[in-house]
Amino acid sequence: MNRAIISSATKFEGDFQIPGDKSISHRSAMCAAIGAGRSKIRNYSSARDCQSTLDCLELMGVGITRSSESIIVEGVGLEGLRAPLKLLDVGNSGTTIRLLSGILAGQTFTSVITGDESIQRRPMKRVIEPLRQMGARIEARDDNYAPLRITGGHLKAIEYRPPVASAQVKSCALLAGLFIDGVTTVIETTPTRNHTEVMLREIGARIEHDGERISVTGKIPLHALGDYTVAGDLSSAAFFIVAALLSPEARVRLRHIGVNPSRTALLDVLRQIGGRIDIASPRLAHGEPVADLIAESSSLSGDLELSGAVIANLIDEIPILAIAGTQLAGTLTIRDAGELRVKESDRIRAIVDNLRRMRIEVEEFDDGFRLAGKQQLHGGVIDSCGDHRIAMAFAVAGLIAEGETIINGADAASVSLPEFYQLLGRCGANILVDDVSEESNAG
Ligand code: S3P
Repeated sequence: MNRAIISSATKFEGDFQIPGDKSISHRSAMCAAIGAGRSKIRNYSSARDCQSTLDCLELMGVGITRSSESIIVEGVGLEGLRAPLKLLDVGNSGTTIRLLSGILAGQTFTSVITGDESIQRRPMKRVIEPLRQMGARIEARDDNYAPLRITGGHLKAIEYRPPVASAQVKSCALLAGLFIDGVTTVIETTPTRNHTEVMLREIGARIEHDGERISVTGKIPLHALGDYTVAGDLSSAAFFIVAALLSPEARVRLRHIGVNPSRTALLDVLRQIGGRIDIASPRLAHGEPVADLIAESSSLSGDLELSGAVIANLIDEIPILAIAGTQLAGTLTIRDAGELRVKESDRIRAIVDNLRRMRIEVEEFDDGFRLAGKQQLHGGVIDSCGDHRIAMAFAVAGLIAEGETIINGADAASVSLPEFYQLLGRCGANILVDDVSEESNAG
């Protein structure tokens, strides 16, 4: 099994760019595919998940040329996708299966989409439901799990109020709406990331946002994305930001990071408890806010109780926030985060079990957890549970722990950031990944 062995960093510092945002990369490829004409997408995420999206699009006849600098997508237009001759395999990617299901529902052909073991355990009823209301025929295991067999076409516009706060569900419905003659509306009571809406406008879709109502008018021809650069991934940057806050004499500067307000709650809450984070040179690129982020060693104090609407804004950052919570002179309480139990792993279990392996006292709730007082992390043997964000969060814990930390299943990180251990090593971390090709021991 691939493992990473980590001990404390002497000095944690770096100045670099983080690879492209995973959420934006998925959407850029899908939108470029259904727009007419050629798009060149730079800084497309190297994440395994985003490569899965490209694989699926290729199987439907979209020409894609991949190079280290960019990908070129030959968009086929709204009516140009072809029936895939094989099963569409999304690997570990929830965003691919849920968003692409919306596009597949708009096609007159039948397709079958599935993924790895983790994907086959994750709930899909949340996308099956609105697509069925639109008129798509969908078969699923136990009517909830992949593989999904989707026969679409001839859909009707609906108004849909998702029962869970989910950008994936909202995006699925909006993407299906592109293929419908009429106006499809999603009513979103808890705001979630709006990258789909921003990206759809970039290819000429008519999107309206009025309070809780987000609407798309379908059957409007879409154009290419053209020359597009994906902003750096804030959810990946979060690991380096927290590593810098928690390490002595540390400073990192991360350039051109996406700071869409639907994603930045982590920065707000870290600053609220004393995190020294500077958001420099804010600007807009392709409708997405970006900035440089500078983070420095900090003492964290105060009580943080996070629940309700803010959870959707920092859902992916909760594993690394838990690590910051161990160093907080105060109490960190997370509630209303039951969605964490149906992510790539049961993240509440994975956080609590692994923190206990590092001798941290933590209270578990059905929908969250509580950490009280600043505690010493001790090196231990961590189980990534095959979950990229668990592997990376606990690698950061290893940097400030007493003794050595071993992350079993460390290679899960490549699902969102294959460069993670190399970048951490470049910042001064003592890391050995025992797959020789990924070895990085910058200590
Ligand atoms: C994502 C939305 C979130 C997030 C996931 C990526 C997206 O999931 O957890 O990592 O790109 O739309 P939900 O929308 O299911 O909460």
